Amino acid sequence: MKSNSPLPTYQAIFETCEEGIIVVNSEGRIILANQSSKRLFGYSIDELLALSVDDLLPSSLRKKHAELRKGYSKNPQPRRMGRGRDLQAQKKDGSLFPVEISLNQTFINDDSHTVAFIIDITDRKVIEEALKNSEEQLIVYASELEKRVQARTKELDETIKKLEDVNHHLEDEIVERKKAQEDVVSALENEKELNELKSRFVSMASHEFRTPLSAILSSASLISKYNDPGTEEKRLRHVDKIKSSINNLNNILNDFLSLAKIEEGKTEIQVTEFNISDLANEAINDIEEVLKSGQHVELRKFGTERKLKSDEKLLRNIFINLLSNASKYSFENSKIILDVIYGKNNIDIHVTDQGIGIDLTDQKHLFERFFRAKNATNIQGTGLGLNIVKKHVELLSGSITFESQLNIGTTFKVKLPL
Ligand SMILES: Nc1ncnc2c1ncn2[C@@H]1O[C@H](COP(=O)(O)OP(=O)(O)OP(=O)(O)O)[C@@H](O)[C@H]1O
Ligand SMILES: [Mg+2]
Repeated sequence: MKSNSPLPTYQAIFETCEEGIIVVNSEGRIILANQSSKRLFGYSIDELLALSVDDLLPSSLRKKHAELRKGYSKNPQPRRMGRGRDLQAQKKDGSLFPVEISLNQTFINDDSHTVAFIIDITDRKVIEEALKNSEEQLIVYASELEKRVQARTKELDETIKKLEDVNHHLEDEIVERKKAQEDVVSALENEKELNELKSRFVSMASHEFRTPLSAILSSASLISKYNDPGTEEKRLRHVDKIKSSINNLNNILNDFLSLAKIEEGKTEIQVTEFNISDLANEAINDIEEVLKSGQHVELRKFGTERKLKSDEKLLRNIFINLLSNASKYSFENSKIILDVIYGKNNIDIHVTDQGIGIDLTDQKHLFERFFRAKNATNIQGTGLGLNIVKKHVELLSGSITFESQLNIGTTFKVKLPL
């Protein structure tokens, strides 16, 4: 600030100081005030010099301030007022404004005086308030954001759960559909199998029934012609043919009956204790008459002979079936071996021939009903024997396998528990 009269330096500082400076005597009277305090409070300097410092405070605080002031003059220490507190001063027009004040003691003519430096902190307060507001707003925003994030997360969780449910549902559906598909496929396979069985049965029946029936017919009509004496022998030969044809038919019917019984679960098992080698010998005797010329069966025994508890009748049928196959599917003058092997927990029965063997492609069907290998079509048979044998072996808790080589021979192996 420029002045016409050259002022002493301290007075110039006093007057130009940005802070309001007020000097107060021990009674609280203002004895000195600078230009800034004039601007701050709206009083003229003269008006200020007529006031007590208490008059510059909000009226509600004046009385209390007078007491505080007395306390301060007893113990005058430099101090700052209003920092961190809401200290207010009052203008001439009665309006209030926020201030920060620092107090210092000084002596004028040995009398103690207080110098007050006053800063208007309205702007700072405005900024502080704005900062506080924006901080609060930020907090509100943050918590709102957090709420939104939580809500969104919840929504996402629910969506994921729904998707998972849909997924599970789809998985179940896939399993169901797969099963339905498998059912259809297996039904189709059953149907196919049944058709196959039917056609096998028809071709078997047309051959196996017609052959003995036409043999019976021709023998019967021939017999009727052999009336003359001396034709006795011819007649008897035809009677025998009729008998054997009837026997054949009877055997086929017996096989059907066995199958029906197995199918209905009506095969009765009668367990007795017997010697299996004796049974083997009996079976060999039984099939003796069907062996081709020059064929013979050799019985071999291995291990310590023991008695077996099983169904003798079923086992005899098994022996006869396997031995008659061995004979039927091999040539004259060939050897058939029947091995009875006593093991620790099992008895193994092996029937080995040196016959036509079974082609590899036919082997997997061998135990199927009415199945006949390609190389057996010119040989009589229904294709039921092995199917019945396998079922009977299983009824006796045993198992049956075979090994075969085309044109070399075949071995059937039955394993029975001891
Ligand atoms: N020892 C064997 N050697 C070669 N092929 C065999 C032998 N045993 C069985 N087979 C084959 O297995 C098929 C099925 O045998 P299976 O005993 O079930 O019927 P089959 O002998 O034809 O008729 P059935 O015994 O009912 O009179 C036979 O047709 C034949 O092709
Ligand atoms: Mg057979």
